[in-house]
Amino acid sequence: MEERAQRSRLWSNETASRYWWHRLPGMNFVPPIYSDLSEEEWAIVSDWYAETDCAGEVGEVAVPLVSLLQGFVLGNRAARIVQLGTHAGYSSILLGFMLRRMNAPRGLFTLEIDSHFCAIARDWLRRAGLQGFVEVAERNSLDPASVAAAIEYLGGAPELIVIDSSHEYGATRRELDLWYASLEPGGLLVVHDVSRFAQNFDVTEGGGVRRAFDEWRTANPAAETFLLNGEARSMDLPQPFYKDACGLGLIHKLASSPR
Ligand SMILES: C[S@@+](CC[C@H](N)C(=O)[O-])C[C@H]1O[C@@H](n2cnc3c(N)ncnc32)[C@H](O)[C@@H]1O
Repeated sequence: MEERAQRSRLWSNETASRYWWHRLPGMNFVPPIYSDLSEEEWAIVSDWYAETDCAGEVGEVAVPLVSLLQGFVLGNRAARIVQLGTHAGYSSILLGFMLRRMNAPRGLFTLEIDSHFCAIARDWLRRAGLQGFVEVAERNSLDPASVAAAIEYLGGAPELIVIDSSHEYGATRRELDLWYASLEPGGLLVVHDVSRFAQNFDVTEGGGVRRAFDEWRTANPAAETFLLNGEARSMDLPQPFYKDACGLGLIHKLASSPR
């Protein structure tokens, strides 16, 4: 089989939990987030998985969420993106490839509170040649100065914000208030880990992203919100249509909202 056709299909034989999507029934094809890449770009992603497997640095999102982001970014030329939570750089690399394809420099400002992960993510972005497209900022997502830094780097208000950080109820509640206010009218906030299952990720046991999302949307009825696979309680099969048991929240700031 031609190399491009193989790519991530090889991961269907991997037993580690991070490869769960590739083991699902029928997923014996290469999703566009990987098939669209050049050979050099695919080599980076393939090496990223191999090296982070060895180092045990697992914490990235999976195919359903990146596929959704790919549609939003490339379908609309989203050129001012913020991500809260960078970890070892997986989503930053893939978003960086999308920005490079659109010739949209300084398009992703991604925050990470842990200096170890900042260094790892920056090194991968350098290896991928994406320094002109992505900035890894060693910053706390709860700090209002982080919002100002993001706007300065992007050259304007963010159009798309991805929240994938602490998963704690209290911190997420504050992130939603802080970052929604910064969003360009018409923009979109994508929130990972909003399911019942993902409430277990809250080390404070405060109810996780789900409680924060529910409370936030009750308090902000002017925003359009949507929750996908929010009732998932485990990763066991079968999952419904949306395959990620971590669930996904969308918050749309209406174009008519005040700046
Ligand atoms: C789930 S990982 C992010 C994975 C990343 N979105 C990806 O798919 O490649 C969450 C990261 O958020 C970081 N984090 C947690 N709280 C944070 C905060 N308040 N500000 C910035 N980063 C934070 C953690 O250190 C961790 O590396």
